[in-house]
Amino acid sequence: MNAEPRSELKCIDCCKVFSDAAVNRCGCGGLLDVVVDIDFLKEKISRELFDSRLGSTKFPYMSGVWRFHELVNPLIREENIVSRSEGNTFLYTHPKISEYTQIKNISLKHEGENPTGSFKDRGMTSGISAAKHLGKDTVACASTGNTSASMAAYASLAGMNSVVFIPEGMIAFGKLSQALAYGARVLQIKGNFDDAMALVQASANELGMYLLNSINPWRIEGQKTIMFELIQQLGWNPPDWVIVPAGNLGNTSAFGKAFCELYDLGLIDKIPRIGSIQASGANPFYNTWKNHLKKLEAVEKPDTIATAIRIGDPVSWQKALRAIKHTNGVVEEVTDQEIMDAKATVDSSGIGCEPASAASVAGAKKLLDAGVIDSKEKVICIITGNILKDPDATINYHLSKLLDITSRFNNPPTLIEPTLAAVRKEIT
Ligand code: F0G
Repeated sequence: MNAEPRSELKCIDCCKVFSDAAVNRCGCGGLLDVVVDIDFLKEKISRELFDSRLGSTKFPYMSGVWRFHELVNPLIREENIVSRSEGNTFLYTHPKISEYTQIKNISLKHEGENPTGSFKDRGMTSGISAAKHLGKDTVACASTGNTSASMAAYASLAGMNSVVFIPEGMIAFGKLSQALAYGARVLQIKGNFDDAMALVQASANELGMYLLNSINPWRIEGQKTIMFELIQQLGWNPPDWVIVPAGNLGNTSAFGKAFCELYDLGLIDKIPRIGSIQASGANPFYNTWKNHLKKLEAVEKPDTIATAIRIGDPVSWQKALRAIKHTNGVVEEVTDQEIMDAKATVDSSGIGCEPASAASVAGAKKLLDAGVIDSKEKVICIITGNILKDPDATINYHLSKLLDITSRFNNPPTLIEPTLAAVRKEIT
């Protein structure tokens, strides 16, 4: 037995193996997977080990990512870990959510409780730590907003430069303000996210920037921990379903990888089914899955109120398709109306989320209505981003100012005279 686990990257297309951890893509164009050394780790890890780190105040185990250090990046040394105590996010149940979806046993895992307000911090602590380990000084990403906010924060924390490529006028203000404030160099691209993604890939290598989009395999390793932590929270009893909003498809890919590894390591005895939910105006993955296409056909002009998932040409579609197959999963689409109805329900339950996050709850409801999910099954919806990320969408919904959306559950403010009589009239 080796003293250290194998550490390799492997092309998902041609199976070429790389020992250089800095490679982001195979020469054949294929995406890379981090190969987890199951045989080695089987001897080293256990449910008890991970449970013993729960509630730890010790660096880096206080993080819900680094609690699973061995399964994220076993070779990284502690001094290279850049962490803000990610994860440890709450699982919420609420009668309103059960009533809305008609699913009794439904919980929401709120990844908007991460340090910069989205699940991206899990992949970013892993990605930036890999960048530090590899001696990189400048990192770059294209983003619909959350990745840029997260990367900007973690890069500054690590003393690195960051460059973000964002689609002009198409990202929510909460996210743009974070990227600017955390000190990233912000390039607004005259085009959409897919244009920004193509441009950052073309320029990263050329200009010596380490690419930190989710094509970076180390990002996926961090995002796996949403599922590790979830399963641990459930006492290592997997749910029947995990429902997740889907844009660039990093999460769908990561969840599938996480389940396969947990199963191969003997930590779970059943693999949950993944429900991957797209907005109907940005649904290339849904079309691919539904029509059994061999190749993804990009949506040229993606459009949805959920700007985080306004993506027409998701980079990780092959990995995500593999995850759907391995987990006997499904892909569904939901309209903007369904997204905003679900968001209003999540918000008025006191939980709150940004529009894209609500796609998971809208999707769960739709899959129940379609008879795919049974009302007695245990369902977990992933809430991907914080309610404060996109205040415009929320305010405009409550003021009934959203184009083509009926504000069915709105709660508008009332303007009154500054008198007790006026208050009495409103309150009684
Ligand atoms: N929900 C939110 C709030 C997001 O920010 C994203 C992706 C998704 C869902 C979709 O996740 O890409 O893993 O399928 N946001 C990226 C960004 C694209 O740039 O912030 P995915």
